[in-house]
Amino acid sequence: MSIRFSLSKSLVAGLAFGLFVQPVVAQETEWGSDAPPAIRKTFQKDDVFLKDLLAKMTWEEKCGQLTQYAGELTGPQPIKKELFSRIGTGEIGSVLSISGVERCRKMQDEALKSRLKIPLVFAFDVIHGYRTVYPIPISEAASFDPALAQEAARVAATEASAAGINWTFAPMVDLARDPRWGRVIEGAGEDPYMGSVFAKARVRGFQGEDLSQPDTLAACAKHLGGYGAAEGGRDYDTSEISEMTLRESYMPPFEAAMEAGVATVMPSFQETAGRPSHANTFLLQDLLREEWGFPGVVVSDYGAIEELLAHRIAGDRNSAGKLALEAGVDIDMMSDIFRTLPRTPETEKAVDEAVLRVLTLKKDLGLFEDPYRYLDVERESQVVMNPEYRRGARAAAAKGAVLLENRDSLLPLDLNGVKQIAVIGPLAADARSALGEWNLVGRAEDTVSPLMGLQKNFENRGIKVVHSEGCPSWESDPSGISKAAQLAAESDLVILVLGEPYDATGESRNRTQIGLPGSQQDLLEAVVAKGKPTVTVLANGRPLALTEVKDLTPTLLVLWHAGIESGNALYDLLVGDAPIGGKLPMTFPRSVGQIPLYYNRKTSGRPPAEGVEKYRVDYHDSPLTPLYPFGYGLTTSAMKFSTPVVSSKPGEWPIVIEGDISNTGSRTADEVPQLYLSDEVRSVTPPRKELKGFERFTLEPGQTQKYRFVIEKDDLRFVGLDMKRTFEPGWYTVAVGADSDAAANFRMEVGEDGLVGVSRP
Ligand code: BGC
Repeated sequence: MSIRFSLSKSLVAGLAFGLFVQPVVAQETEWGSDAPPAIRKTFQKDDVFLKDLLAKMTWEEKCGQLTQYAGELTGPQPIKKELFSRIGTGEIGSVLSISGVERCRKMQDEALKSRLKIPLVFAFDVIHGYRTVYPIPISEAASFDPALAQEAARVAATEASAAGINWTFAPMVDLARDPRWGRVIEGAGEDPYMGSVFAKARVRGFQGEDLSQPDTLAACAKHLGGYGAAEGGRDYDTSEISEMTLRESYMPPFEAAMEAGVATVMPSFQETAGRPSHANTFLLQDLLREEWGFPGVVVSDYGAIEELLAHRIAGDRNSAGKLALEAGVDIDMMSDIFRTLPRTPETEKAVDEAVLRVLTLKKDLGLFEDPYRYLDVERESQVVMNPEYRRGARAAAAKGAVLLENRDSLLPLDLNGVKQIAVIGPLAADARSALGEWNLVGRAEDTVSPLMGLQKNFENRGIKVVHSEGCPSWESDPSGISKAAQLAAESDLVILVLGEPYDATGESRNRTQIGLPGSQQDLLEAVVAKGKPTVTVLANGRPLALTEVKDLTPTLLVLWHAGIESGNALYDLLVGDAPIGGKLPMTFPRSVGQIPLYYNRKTSGRPPAEGVEKYRVDYHDSPLTPLYPFGYGLTTSAMKFSTPVVSSKPGEWPIVIEGDISNTGSRTADEVPQLYLSDEVRSVTPPRKELKGFERFTLEPGQTQKYRFVIEKDDLRFVGLDMKRTFEPGWYTVAVGADSDAAANFRMEVGEDGLVGVSRP
């Protein structure tokens, strides 16, 4: 048999590095070398091969294909034994959380001993890199560079697939407006447009152009629907969302994933309007299958089918299984309920449909053609941790950094006369936290922590680097603060690395306070009191409330949990080798009391007034405005925006808005022009403004760059009272600028046939 490679960018890099030298060799299967072509995106009614296979399957074998189990070989012996024997009898169709060619191979061998020799599919949470861990997804979104996210997913897919994995439970495309929610690390932030752009990029990156290629992964858009709206930011808790808001704000990233051809979808744990998502026929049937025409596999979240009992809409396991199956869940992850489903005409029909979808996925992945396609030990050793990927991780980490303050123009650093730098703070040497919470294979010992990166690079330039942790990252313990402050006093420059430890972020790691944890605020105060030039760097996994931090430190850089190359990227940013140009994909509030606070909320009938005025949407004890708005981030040069113009003609689509940005400063720097539209009057209350376009540019000093935003009619549709996307002619206020507070530039009237006219204020 022959193996075809699609020449993706990373594959070209791989070939250049002499990788992928061994084509994988098919083992003898029931279908031998006459296996049907593997490139199929959906089950085709005329697919004789799959229909015949289904016809041969017993009820138990069918339910087995719908059962997914964790393959952790280091677990207790009985589980291991039972898992193996159940794979061997065809009672398990897919395995999660196992990776590594050798281990996957053992399991695949077992599956091929089963009566019908249906190969296993290996699933894994490849969230932001496999072994070469990239920055957490919210950092990727902060890059405002979807091409970067696509490339990061491509690298992750190439590495993970070389380690035996066929399917990733990513991207998480849940919109998040509440930074208390730990899972904001995994998504693209608060905006449906951003969320859609990044959903597409990530799906394309993982899946490439052809799922059967050995360097691609099936992707999974998760968690449908409204998971990010958990009350109080409490993961798994109820989210109460109107259908209009669900469709208008939470669903577009899923629809974008559909457009990109995402192979699988995972429902969310929580319940909305009386229905947990795993039993929600509105979500899983009406929207997903009927409106969006999704042909792929729906996999349950971990144990979520059994949780229908705890949700109290099922009284026993059988009812829970039936509810989920009939709502449209195809694969049961970890509840082990589908294998004992009651056999009725209804469940038989649903099971057959689900099995065909699962088998189609396996076929699309090329597994019937060659069950060992992804199981080449030599390829694994050559691909995983390729140095080229590390370089990509370093560039990605730098691109996601956001400069919140540079009041003394300290960045980029002028190192003249600097002999000693103090690197202080509990996140400085914490390589594990630099990796971020959601990675299963990344290793702290592979990771360049902020301290390591700064030490190595500054010491190469003859500058001494001294370090003190100052205090723990989470617990309150001020005992080390005075020593750290002393070190600051003895140094010419201080880099203070504060933030959140990794395990205060991610799944179920919700916080009620989102300032600096433990004694970190005291450490900050003690260090800045020494009066040395200080750069405060935040290694965090969510927006933080930084009101007290902002006043104390004139230089504030958000690095996030930036992955395996955190320290090198930080050095690049500090010295100006990498331009700082990231933007916030989520609002940073002043305080927890303001949450939820997002830029595209509604205006209300009583919008806030200038100054304090009673009977307005406002607070008595705080401004309504955030500390840093969505889209905010400084550059280290001076950028000038020209007044944008509409360059397309009236009476036609699309409408094109263009303008220039010029770097009028003296340094190479990045800027991201962002287009915001505000529908002035419509039949349902519009958001204050909505992001409709953005593009990140690098500009040399003196360089002028044209930006161009193209607006199609579909971009102006909104969800009407009938829950359908609709267009209404009318006036829009247009603003282009460097963040979501950009001032209005002009108004434009738009009709059915495009632009009607423009009016300047
Ligand atoms: C998470 C999912 C994840 C799954 C499998 C669950 O707890 O909610 O996002 O894919 O575990 O690891």
